[in-house]
Amino acid sequence: MERPLRILMIASEAVPFAKTGGLGDVAGTLPRALQRRGHEVTVVLPRYGWIDGARHGLRPFHAPMGVWMGGVEEWCAVEATEIEGVTFALVRYDRYFDRPLLYHDAQFRDYADNPRRFAFLTRAALQLCRDRGWAPDVVHVHDWQTALGPAYLKVWHWNDPVLGGAASVLTIHNIAYQGRYPAEHWPYIGLRWDNFTADTFEDHGATNFLKGGIRFADALSTVSPTYARETLGPIGGHGLGPYLLRRGADYVGILNGADYGEWDPSRDPKIPARYDASSLAGKAVCKRELQRRLQLEVADDIPVVGIVSRFVEQKGFDLLAPVIGSIVRGMRVQFAVLGAGDKQLEAFFGPLPRRYPGRVGTWIGYHDELAHWIEAGSDFFLMPSRYEPCGLNQIYSLRYATLPIVRATGGLDDTVEQYDERTGDGTGFKFHDPTPGAVHDTVGWAVSTFYDRKPHLEAMRRRAMSRDFSWERSAAAYERLYERAIANHRAL
Ligand code: ADP
Ligand code: GLC
Repeated sequence: MERPLRILMIASEAVPFAKTGGLGDVAGTLPRALQRRGHEVTVVLPRYGWIDGARHGLRPFHAPMGVWMGGVEEWCAVEATEIEGVTFALVRYDRYFDRPLLYHDAQFRDYADNPRRFAFLTRAALQLCRDRGWAPDVVHVHDWQTALGPAYLKVWHWNDPVLGGAASVLTIHNIAYQGRYPAEHWPYIGLRWDNFTADTFEDHGATNFLKGGIRFADALSTVSPTYARETLGPIGGHGLGPYLLRRGADYVGILNGADYGEWDPSRDPKIPARYDASSLAGKAVCKRELQRRLQLEVADDIPVVGIVSRFVEQKGFDLLAPVIGSIVRGMRVQFAVLGAGDKQLEAFFGPLPRRYPGRVGTWIGYHDELAHWIEAGSDFFLMPSRYEPCGLNQIYSLRYATLPIVRATGGLDDTVEQYDERTGDGTGFKFHDPTPGAVHDTVGWAVSTFYDRKPHLEAMRRRAMSRDFSWERSAAAYERLYERAIANHRAL
């Protein structure tokens, strides 16, 4: 570590409080890694109504707090708790955050006031620093939800005794979600109209939070080196490539870490039996229990392919759907599927166990414990993503000796090493074409390795378990990024 920093993180979700995907894992875990390295970190997130305050030891922290939005002052309260030295401060404003789901209603329709909700969260986080006289060296924001943070700092707080010295960093976890909303929200957001221009927040007449964030942040990152390169291009960048290109070396890719406190088969309390590289006997127990739980045929000698995912276009399950029938008919293999999201995909995967009894087990929904069971009990783990900024499940899979079958994109390409049939090297199976045929053939390749090249399979499992994606290395890379942001901020 160069020197201890005060770091304010602002995020729309963070474990253990709220999580819909990898952002929650990162925003809850990276701060603890930074704190271990001697920094002082506060994470601000919404206090969603359903968060169990007693379970997390939330106590009143700061109230009342007035937050100026364009033309109105909103009064809210902040509750907090400490985890491993990190302060987690949760903004309580029921009008915005007391809802059953984080971003959308039960029909998956975005809440219409999302731009207001998350603009408010971001300003509330900055206001909290001002009210408490806590001067951060770095304000680190994540994704479109909090991407207004750098602009608030530059436009309103550049001269503030508490916030004037704060450099800003924006991490992009998924560039497809940009925060595009009608311009009518702009006055409430509370930036100026001269920030609503084609090279700042305006995008074909609408707001684009991420675009403005890219412009105003002192430094930027995304969650893997390969995705960083992909986002500079016209397809991967979803229109923002040119703006990222303009930032040159201020934009870097830093691979996410895994929280091995939570995801490690040698001490995971959620799985039926524990195991490590010295003996995989526990893994065989986990496989049998998983087969039983999902009503698959209980047999050691049939490979199980696991899936745990949000069902969204990004994840590529529409590439599996046309061929899963011919895979289970043509190969001796089972699928253990956990997922939720897209109604069409839910309707497709939901009835598969009835069509292929004993061969496909499906659970539609979000289920943390079952996710651990699938990681532990499967032989292979399938992620046919069309794009994948980092991906965490393949990283967990490696540690659970569950060999990933992935499309070679973004973080999947950076974390999985291609199997070499001649030497037995590698940690997984990669394909390039986003086609059902490629999914079919690559699953077939893994399955044939299971049956025909057992020694390779065993060596790959042990190799996979030895790969280390802990947060320490990534936290060190973030420190370098913070120093760059601070230098850029000072140079202004
Ligand atoms: P993304 O953030 O794009 O969804 P990641 O691979 O980075 O993808 O992270 C997904 C995280 O969410 C993992 O921790 C995974 O276990 C979890 N997850 C996704 N879908 C489910 C589900 N249906 N049930 C339980 N956990 C899930
Ligand atoms: C996003 C991406 C995923 C990444 C996660 C955490 O949800 O889709 O690939 O792992 O953010 O950075």
